Amino acid sequence: MLVHFVTDEPTKIPAIRAMLEPQYHVVPQLLGGETRATANGVLMVDADLREAVRVEQIKLVLLDVRSVTEKLFVVQSHLQHMVAQAYALGATAVVRSSREVVAKLAQIEIAARAAKPGSDSATAPPEIADSAAAFASMFSAIRRGKSIDLKDAETATSQIVSSISQNGLSTWLNDVRRYHEGTFQHCLLVTGVAVGFALDVGFTGPDVKRLGIAATLHDIGKARIPLSILDKPGRLDPGEEEIMRQHPVIGHDLLKDLPGITPEILDGVRHHHEYLDGSGYPDALKTSQISDLVRLLTISDIFAALIESRPYRPPMSRQSAYKILCEMDDKLERPLVSAFRKVAFMA
Ligand SMILES: [Fe+2]
Ligand SMILES: [Fe+2]
Repeated sequence: MLVHFVTDEPTKIPAIRAMLEPQYHVVPQLLGGETRATANGVLMVDADLREAVRVEQIKLVLLDVRSVTEKLFVVQSHLQHMVAQAYALGATAVVRSSREVVAKLAQIEIAARAAKPGSDSATAPPEIADSAAAFASMFSAIRRGKSIDLKDAETATSQIVSSISQNGLSTWLNDVRRYHEGTFQHCLLVTGVAVGFALDVGFTGPDVKRLGIAATLHDIGKARIPLSILDKPGRLDPGEEEIMRQHPVIGHDLLKDLPGITPEILDGVRHHHEYLDGSGYPDALKTSQISDLVRLLTISDIFAALIESRPYRPPMSRQSAYKILCEMDDKLERPLVSAFRKVAFMA
């Protein structure tokens, strides 16, 4: 999605780029400089609305972008009284912090996707919008070199638990595939499958939450993998594969000093690509070295990856995906794969 960023302060441009790219395409414009007409994406204005000259310049920009429907104004929290000015200029939303910017853009993107011709005209369910916003906030924090807020992982998990408890796993999987793509889709699917698994085997509330949080964070290291590799359609070459395989260790390093992080979550993040026969990575662990939480997470991760919806291929059926799990005999725990059967076909 294109973000047309208008500001009166040149130093804000690299900051906003670091925060939003590469997920969004940022087109910056300095007030008083060259004007750029656009009809697509989102207009984002961050300027001092107390200055009459700035307000006049913004009005000129707004004429050039009048067909852009979403106009986001950033008003710093100490300038609350400027909120009314922003709306008077035509803001469709006012945000006060970078965290709110990321969450708002995620919401706009979901709404835009839902409104596309050929897609369901209904808006994404609130649990999807809220958990996607939490993922966007975590990935964006890492890309900006900031540490993540564990509350985001907790929010995403509790939204997913509540959605699956109320509407079932199938609804969650279908909705996520309809409204999201790429890494966000994958993380939302893995967490949904893991939570569905935990609920089905009768985990206690705290255990469901533990597995859910590990699932939300399992691929957080991918925030540091170049998008050219992460979103490459088709197979990675050996060099790209090597870079991709670093994501569990990167994720572990990003999280290990975070207040509130637990050894189990770190274990899940670092070891979700390990196999019982020792053929996994990064530590080539074997049987007893692989915890129960990791075993559950690995099954959920593989299953979710197989049923993902990609622009270049239709999603694999849940039956076929389960068959592949069954064929990974020495790698996954057989009784767990059997227990997973119900989840794989769960409504
Ligand atoms: Fe992974
Ligand atoms: Fe994964």
